[in-house]
Amino acid sequence: MAEATTDPVRLPPGPRIPKAIMGVAFLTARHRAVASIGGRYGDAFTVTLPIFGETVVISDSALIKDLFTTSSDLIRRASNLGTVLGPGSTFSLDGAEHRARRKLLVPPFHGKRMVGYEAIVEEEVMREIESWPEGREFETLQPMMRITLNAILRAVFGAQGSAFDELRELFPPMIPLASRMAVLPAAARRDLGAWSPWAKVQRYRKRYNQIITGMIAEARNDPAFAERNDVLALMLAARYEDGSPISDDHIADELLTLLSAGHETTATTLAWAVERLRRHPRLLTRLTAEVDAGGTELLQATIWEVQRTRPVVEATVRVTRERIRLGEWVIPKDHAIIASITMSHSSERNFADPKAFNPDRFLGTSPDTHTWIPYGGGIRRCIGAAFANMEMKVTLRTLLRELEFGTTYAAGERVHSRGVATAPARGGRAIVYRRKVGSTSTARKDSERVSA
Ligand code: HEM
Repeated sequence: MAEATTDPVRLPPGPRIPKAIMGVAFLTARHRAVASIGGRYGDAFTVTLPIFGETVVISDSALIKDLFTTSSDLIRRASNLGTVLGPGSTFSLDGAEHRARRKLLVPPFHGKRMVGYEAIVEEEVMREIESWPEGREFETLQPMMRITLNAILRAVFGAQGSAFDELRELFPPMIPLASRMAVLPAAARRDLGAWSPWAKVQRYRKRYNQIITGMIAEARNDPAFAERNDVLALMLAARYEDGSPISDDHIADELLTLLSAGHETTATTLAWAVERLRRHPRLLTRLTAEVDAGGTELLQATIWEVQRTRPVVEATVRVTRERIRLGEWVIPKDHAIIASITMSHSSERNFADPKAFNPDRFLGTSPDTHTWIPYGGGIRRCIGAAFANMEMKVTLRTLLRELEFGTTYAAGERVHSRGVATAPARGGRAIVYRRKVGSTSTARKDSERVSA
């Protein structure tokens, strides 16, 4: 745990690259820039970045542990997302308010509750794959986005009927635009005429508020409210320690937060899983056999390994409220610290043969929470981790049960930044064949060659 100190500032060394050049490198080739600086300066270095200024980047597990266990009186998370999600979003809340909200949100997302959502995810996968072509290559990212959007709308929003259809139409154009606006400087978030992006976001938001107001009223009048287990109903029933409920406005902001944080991240990880599996035929055969036999151990290890080798969120950022000591370093007040997920996962100090895609490394063990950090850590750790894991397990299990994937010798897809998440550059392309009832569990041997 980092502590406040009055000792002289002592930052880790780093390259002397002008801010503008570093900014371009981070925008265009963040992955390579981080890898190359990390290769030279190790698991703690200082760089100057456009939005954050001078920033300490860490991937050393002891420093990451210190950072994630540091009191929120000393550090806060840096994120612009609250500006587009609203003041009632977890991303906008800080200190005691944030802790109180997490207390109410953690129970609905607890691992034990997730079994109740499995049937929804499976239904959505079955609905989606009905239209997948056989024997012809296609991108899986957009289909995965539809699965995770529908799953969240039903399990988290409790949406059905016309509200479900309206939200399904509203979100695909709204969320990417709002996410882009969140990463732009504040000046861009102004109404510059009816067709300016910000005005468009506001219009979408107005429509969203109308739909959610209707859904909240409906839930309150639902005679079966007590039996409902969607997160909206659980939030309506939740009470802070002083007995007060979460306000309707905050519930609207929070639902939008859960969707924005949970939909693309999970879909992108699933597209990466397909991309990886097609390039590992033996693993694919073992996984299909495991699924046929009703097991999940290798599947879980595979999900963890996909998240280790292809983390869709590359880093999480904290800002110091005081001067703190972090390991041997002394970091001044108002200074950014990036915990690099990518670097932590690809460090030889953290993982043997880190470049190899080898799910077996996680068999019989679970990942260490200070080296395997796709969901961040500490009081700000991803609330939806158990939900995401359940969604990925059920989706992959259903796909493996229903489909045979054509394998390929093509080079792996490159990492492409989509703003919120880093995705396979070609959308996680797949070729599938429907499995015949009673077919054996072998991946297709006639591995078709696909150009890289
Ligand atoms: C594979 C899928 C996912 C990945 C990789 C992911 C990753 C992350 C990361 C890295 C953070 C920041 C943690 C930190 O700063 O330490 C985060 C926060 C968050 N995530 Fe996720 N996430 C995923 C799915 C989900 C889902 C499904 C939901 C909800 C349905 C969700 C809701 C949230 C929320 C509300 C926060 C903010 C927590 C807070 O500030 O207290 N995420 N996620």
